Amino acid sequence: MAKLWGGRFRKATDQRVDDFNSSIRFDKRMYKQDIKGSIAHATMLGRQGIIPMEDSEAIVRELGHILHDIEDGKIEFLIDAEDIHMNIEKILTDRIGDAGKRLHTGRSRNDQVALDIRMYLMDETAEIEEMLVETMETFVELAKEHIDTIMPGYTHLQKAQPITFAHHCLAYYEMFKRDYSRLVDCRKRTNIMPLGSGALAGTTYPLDRKFVAEMLGFDDVTMNSLDGVSDRDFVIELASCLSLVMMHASRFSEELILWSSNEFGFVEMDDAYSTGSSIMPQKKNPDVAELIRGKTGRVYGDLIGLLTMMKGTPLAYNKDMQEDKEQIFDSIDTVKLCLPVFCDMIRTMRVNTRNMHEGAKGGFTNATDAADYLVKKGLPFRDAHAVIGNMVFYCIEHNKAIEDLTMEEMKSFSDIIEDDIYDAVSMETCVNDRKVIGGPAKKITQKAISKAEKYINSL
Ligand code: ARG
Repeated sequence: MAKLWGGRFRKATDQRVDDFNSSIRFDKRMYKQDIKGSIAHATMLGRQGIIPMEDSEAIVRELGHILHDIEDGKIEFLIDAEDIHMNIEKILTDRIGDAGKRLHTGRSRNDQVALDIRMYLMDETAEIEEMLVETMETFVELAKEHIDTIMPGYTHLQKAQPITFAHHCLAYYEMFKRDYSRLVDCRKRTNIMPLGSGALAGTTYPLDRKFVAEMLGFDDVTMNSLDGVSDRDFVIELASCLSLVMMHASRFSEELILWSSNEFGFVEMDDAYSTGSSIMPQKKNPDVAELIRGKTGRVYGDLIGLLTMMKGTPLAYNKDMQEDKEQIFDSIDTVKLCLPVFCDMIRTMRVNTRNMHEGAKGGFTNATDAADYLVKKGLPFRDAHAVIGNMVFYCIEHNKAIEDLTMEEMKSFSDIIEDDIYDAVSMETCVNDRKVIGGPAKKITQKAISKAEKYINSL
């Protein structure tokens, strides 16, 4: 097949090079954005009198037909037409002749691909934002059900202090909320229109870049033609945002894997979200959570791949940059695959509130509160810490919890201890006295939940 750029060449491209060079296999998914961009460019060329109005109209009309034909599966893309941009231009020219040949006036594939990828990523980002809203909702719903569900909070995976499951869920709400706002922020820098940068040095034609930007719904136009074609920061930013989304999903997945083990027994995955073993009849494995944790690795890989691909590339466009697509597409596909199943898995799991509560009671999670009790009676905190440290040592030796000690045993550690200590170290008090902003107390949690609901409804 004759190449659109074949004039300077006397020999056909080697078949292997055609296969090697071609990106149509993966960039065909940008067909809609490519056509939209070309329609805007052709419309502007006509309005500016750069090409005849009737050619502009013919191009716009035929691009509309091509869009339908692609969507109806009537078009077969060609490897030797290299990429989605030249495939569509070739189909157009085959259909309408000279008018089609005028479409690429004042444009390069370098600014064309920069435009297409920006539009494609913005469309996908909007979909992922929706999924993140659903993820936030899932955690807030779960928090609402578990305001009174006391569980152990951990540091170093050692029991630390009692919290509630609602508080734990709201921690994840905060993470996914940050992910959402990061995506919105990243979209602002993606939302800049590069067409008019040409191959690298702009163009001599009187293009109306602002008109094209407005027609395509962009906020602004790029301000330097070299940067316009060689910038892929927005791709890397998105890959970074998506890596954090996966990191958050994988952290909760890891907790669910631990919590569904026999040792914890805090949650049980629904049968529909677990799998069995081919040999061990008793097994019920949290495969969905494990796969989300595992897939996080490929998204990190995409991010590092993109950063490495861009490292040290001289200005302006280099073919290296064609490698941006498979990696960012893979990140997008992975996140879009994981988030819905992640939410469904969480919504359907059973929470064993009794085991959580029992778990909170072991491991002296109320030791800090016992020390705080002494502080409130006038002892300096460091002295109180030492008294309760001794008490815990005694409890370990006698296989008792702090709240199991008799008043006589209590008094042997400090004579300022009175009957009200039992209430002060109860799990409920430990949780509900933590009334600072951001704390797990019931009242604070209820406020946090209504704030979260208000935020989600405002989106
Ligand atoms: N397929 C190319 C890409 O994805 C399009 C730009 C090609 N430009 C060029 N001068 N070879 O980056």
